[in-house]
Amino acid sequence: MQYRKLGRTGLQVSVLGFGAMRLPVLDNDTKKIDEKLAEKMILYAIDKGVNYIDTAYPYHGGESERFLGRLLKGGLREKVLLATKLPCWSINDSTDFDKYFTEQLEKLQTDYFDCYLLHALDKESWKKICDLGVLEWCEKKKAAGKIKFLGFSFHDQYSVFKQIVDAYDNWDFCQIQYNYMDTNYQAGKRGFEYASRKGLGVIIMEPLRGGQLAEDPPAEIADLWKNFSSARSYADGALQWLWNQPDVSIVLSGMSNMQHVKENIASAETAQPNILTSKELDLYKKVRREYIKRSPIRCTGCKYCEPCPQKVAISSILGVFMMNAMYDDLKRSRTVYNKFIQADARADKCIECGECESKCPQNIKIIKWLKEAHQKFYVEDEV
Ligand SMILES: NC(=O)c1ccc[n+]([C@@H]2O[C@H](COP(=O)([O-])OP(=O)(O)OC[C@H]3O[C@@H](n4cnc5c(N)ncnc54)[C@H](OP(=O)(O)O)[C@@H]3O)[C@@H](O)[C@H]2O)c1
Repeated sequence: MQYRKLGRTGLQVSVLGFGAMRLPVLDNDTKKIDEKLAEKMILYAIDKGVNYIDTAYPYHGGESERFLGRLLKGGLREKVLLATKLPCWSINDSTDFDKYFTEQLEKLQTDYFDCYLLHALDKESWKKICDLGVLEWCEKKKAAGKIKFLGFSFHDQYSVFKQIVDAYDNWDFCQIQYNYMDTNYQAGKRGFEYASRKGLGVIIMEPLRGGQLAEDPPAEIADLWKNFSSARSYADGALQWLWNQPDVSIVLSGMSNMQHVKENIASAETAQPNILTSKELDLYKKVRREYIKRSPIRCTGCKYCEPCPQKVAISSILGVFMMNAMYDDLKRSRTVYNKFIQADARADKCIECGECESKCPQNIKIIKWLKEAHQKFYVEDEV
């Protein structure tokens, strides 16, 4: 296993981290972790040198933390760096900080967390928890030795990311979605570089876009991949693009079977910074361009179109539309549309007032695409 520094924490972390959000399950039920298999996978990974495990309050309906608590208590706890996250969306009162934290310590059967993150920050949740005194609360937990290192994970635009990084001098690390496709999405490459410059360790989530970059791509993209000098699987290619960047500390992978674990550990063992040739780096750019060409719209997620007077989640819906066009992934697109976009913010609530179109710098025919999105993705059974 290769190890890198996590920012200025002094920690040496394995370049591959185990994400406990997509553990194998039984009966297709996310709450029923296949504990025997998951245990085998995690023990194998630890044996091969993986020393960072990432979980969170809601993963597997709360069962990820419980399962890890049972697994780690028999002597493994000290061998790994354990990370979990405060469910910021559930915090409504300053007493909630302690309520969730105490419950998490109990579930994970530990006295402290090596790494604790404020989960999935965006503009609204950041303001809310700041007003409730989250940083002061975290500092007290750090002083008491309950949190060794503090960070946050992030889902919003770059400007919000920068604001959060700048708001506090003592962040130890951050966790961002970043992969060869998402260089200009959420924190993106700019955010990655900004956080690194400020001394934060950077942990990567969704390195394979939740699996989309590991699947067989359309023919024109598969042809491009054949030009790589070394034979790589699509998953390996995506992971190496990240590890090629020296400031990437940990790439978290949500491995859901033993084959993923073995393959990704084998990839991590060959990982080195700056080993990709300029020809190879150029190939990733060509692959990205081909994916983008597949989408009939080029929404950059600037959100100038929002707020919609009807509260339609315009940029999120256009994002789902683009994801489906680019990765041919109707199943996941439908899940995102029906499960993650609230009923009162879906595209069928559009009354065609056109306010959004007048503000869109890309001149996207938003009304037309919203209609198409709803027709394509809305499935009553999934709601
Ligand atoms: N803090 C946050 O807001 C947040 C958000 C997202 C994720 N995370 C954390 O980050 C971790 C990583 O994100 P992620 O789970 O989305 O990672 P990911 O690596 O982008 O996606 C994981 C999926 O990729 C596929 N996969 C993995 N290795 C593969 C291989 N060798 N060959 C083929 N397919 C492979 C599997 O999909 P299939 O099972 O479909 O084959 C797997 O479920 C999560 O587990 C979680 O711990 C945090």
